[in-house]
Amino acid sequence: MTETGVGTEAGTGTGGAVPAVRIEGLRKAFGAKTVLDGVDLEIGRGEFFALLGPSGTGKTTLLRVLAGLERPDAGTVLAAPRRTTVYQEPRLVQSRRVLANVTLGLPRSARQAGRRALAEVGLEGYERAWPATLSGGEAQRVALARALVREPQVLLLDEPFAALDALTRMRTQDLVAELCARHRPAVVLVTHDVDEALRLADRVAVLRDGAFAADRRIGLPRPRDRDDPAAAGYRRSFLSHLGVGEP
Ligand SMILES: Nc1ncnc2c1ncn2[C@@H]1O[C@H](COP(=O)(O)OP(=O)(O)OP(=O)(O)O)[C@@H](O)[C@H]1O
Ligand SMILES: [Mg+2]
Repeated sequence: MTETGVGTEAGTGTGGAVPAVRIEGLRKAFGAKTVLDGVDLEIGRGEFFALLGPSGTGKTTLLRVLAGLERPDAGTVLAAPRRTTVYQEPRLVQSRRVLANVTLGLPRSARQAGRRALAEVGLEGYERAWPATLSGGEAQRVALARALVREPQVLLLDEPFAALDALTRMRTQDLVAELCARHRPAVVLVTHDVDEALRLADRVAVLRDGAFAADRRIGLPRPRDRDDPAAAGYRRSFLSHLGVGEP
């Protein structure tokens, strides 16, 4: 175990493919309140995993444990060492220009990779712009570039589209789908939007009462069509696990 409580080598000696994340029996409480209670989770390299769940069920807590920001009370948490989080808000440093934000904390030699990452998110030419001059969608793309340049093996996304308008949200979802297909990090996407999960993820789970109430592989072809009628069955099932649509 490391200082942060997250072991950095997922799956040794299993003989099979080494997963990006392996959690066994994770328990996390805040005071008297147990938030995560026996969570087991394995995420393969390059797998896109989406996590749904009512507000306050511990989704962010689970991401924070994976990021090494929160120490588990019990259980084993193993994850590949390069992990990066993108949040609902871009969290840019206002006093630094865009490229400096992307390469924050990295050596000067990372600037070229930073420029490439900005180009990948469609922000070529924004290197010297100040964060305050960006639209919400552009700022969030800078946050994605900042994650990308770190070449994460595990990308943790905590409602990264929630603050965007509907059209920007769809475009940014498509961008994330494309970036993840190209770079193949393992992804944990926390979202409240069932359709977003079905659009992006290989696997979708519902966190409820401290553990997973559902965990299903999504057998829809890619690229995903927002109107694929086959998505309706999944949607109904996940909504019912979320307590919506059934008596
Ligand atoms: N540092 C903390 N101290 C005390 N309680 C906390 C702390 N962090 C989280 N909690 C509590 O743990 C529970 C789960 O919080 P968490 O933020 O993980 O929920 P969530 O599923 O991400 O919710 P949302 O969908 O609203 O973002 C909440 O009841 C919250 O108040
Ligand atoms: Mg949250």
